[in-house]
Amino acid sequence: MKHASLILDKDFAISKVDERIYGSFIEHLGRAVYTGIYEPGHPAADENGFRKDVLDLIRQLGVSCVRYPGGNFVSGFNWEDSVGDKRPARLDLAWKTTETNAFGLHEFVRWCEKAGTLPMYAVNLGTRGPKEAKEVVEYCNHASGTRLSDMRIQNGAKDPLNIKLWCLGNEMDGPWQMGAKTAQEYARTACEASKLMKWVDPSIETVACGSSHSHMPTFGDWEYKVLDECYDTVDYMSLHRYYGNPTGDTKDFLASTLDLDGFIKTVAGISRAVKGKKHSNRTVNLSLDEWNVWYHSNQDDQKLYKEQPWGSALPLLQDVYNFEDALLVGLILITILKNADTVKIACMAQLVNVIAPIMTRAGGGAWAQTIFYPLMHASKYGRGTSLMPLISSPAFSTKSFTDVPTVDAAAVTGEDGSLTVFTVNRDLEEDALLKLDLRAYDTAKFVGHTALTHGDLKAVNTEDDPFNVAPAELAPETCDGCVKLPKASWNVLRFETKA
Ligand code: AHR
Repeated sequence: MKHASLILDKDFAISKVDERIYGSFIEHLGRAVYTGIYEPGHPAADENGFRKDVLDLIRQLGVSCVRYPGGNFVSGFNWEDSVGDKRPARLDLAWKTTETNAFGLHEFVRWCEKAGTLPMYAVNLGTRGPKEAKEVVEYCNHASGTRLSDMRIQNGAKDPLNIKLWCLGNEMDGPWQMGAKTAQEYARTACEASKLMKWVDPSIETVACGSSHSHMPTFGDWEYKVLDECYDTVDYMSLHRYYGNPTGDTKDFLASTLDLDGFIKTVAGISRAVKGKKHSNRTVNLSLDEWNVWYHSNQDDQKLYKEQPWGSALPLLQDVYNFEDALLVGLILITILKNADTVKIACMAQLVNVIAPIMTRAGGGAWAQTIFYPLMHASKYGRGTSLMPLISSPAFSTKSFTDVPTVDAAAVTGEDGSLTVFTVNRDLEEDALLKLDLRAYDTAKFVGHTALTHGDLKAVNTEDDPFNVAPAELAPETCDGCVKLPKASWNVLRFETKA
């Protein structure tokens, strides 16, 4: 049995949690849209063709915002193709498929309303530029009386769509991106786009592209140059990060959040450096708007491309997640919460079918993958103020990391007096006893212990066995002030305190 301890004090606040950290992402990619969220003719489809079974799961997940329409897709996308009666089919060079545009801008905003989530819309700064970016803001958010706003009204939306959060392109540092740019080229384009977009609607916020990966050769330099140019006009800088376990080294895989923590702190540091240099009063915070595990489906995708060139709604990036992936997702959420002072938006990429917590079968059912549960728990109980957890834990080393704490944790206190500790025991063989020192919360009542555990790290959920990996309620018990965390487990410890 391992022993760890955690001190929490209500005065040790990191920051208020921005609820947009429980966001996700829908791209026109694979079966995310078509046969994912949208499938007219499906027995569970509503009058718009939106799958109600999928909407139910998304509402359970409590997704706070959804980034759309890409991703790499957006860098070749004409937003005008996705509105009105005449929707052209186009080649999507990003994913080598054919996009029908049957589902577009208005459908997305309507779907967000039904899903109880906020839209986060990306503009194309790859093959297009500031002109088209400010035009789509005018189309969406200007009340009326101009060609574009009246066109929206004609297309059925009398009131402005009121989209408040906008991404200035996607992964513009990547050679795989249509219209990829150098840092200087992107910085000028993003700065002008953001400026014009805000001249149309000053109430919006914009997210500039950071590096698409912390291992990009331009990482660091890119962030500095982009922020140096855009600091006064953008609100957030994006980070993207995916992890995988292709060699089957689970200990190393579960230590990956040390890399994520370093990535976040480095970008936050660069932003602070630019702020200092400019003597600015504003703070550009971070949008971790793509994060997840992604590696299971890579080989299948290569095969699919060969078999069905330029197909539509191909089953691309359909990672089937296992139990250890859910542990890493829990650790990523812990890392995000511990960086709540700088990370204000975060999107699990993606939401349905494509590297997603929710899977569907065309014409069939919808079910939750293993990674669904940590996000659902964090979104439900992780709203309020993130507290600084002082953790003392045994540590271990892996191939890529040293000093990896066996027990990691984050804590959030709500205005209603709730106190929730999210914690993972990374040890694959031994349970851990976590001693809780709640200090100012000494009257706290332990009211719930939810745990995600499984005897098989590779266990998955399927349509036929959808709850193979699912959380269980354990008795909220302490022994000498300690809570037992099962080996390899994600835990949600809930306390009631005096508000
Ligand atoms: O989420 C899948 C892809 O990953 C996105 O389109 C792109 O932005 C990233 O490389």
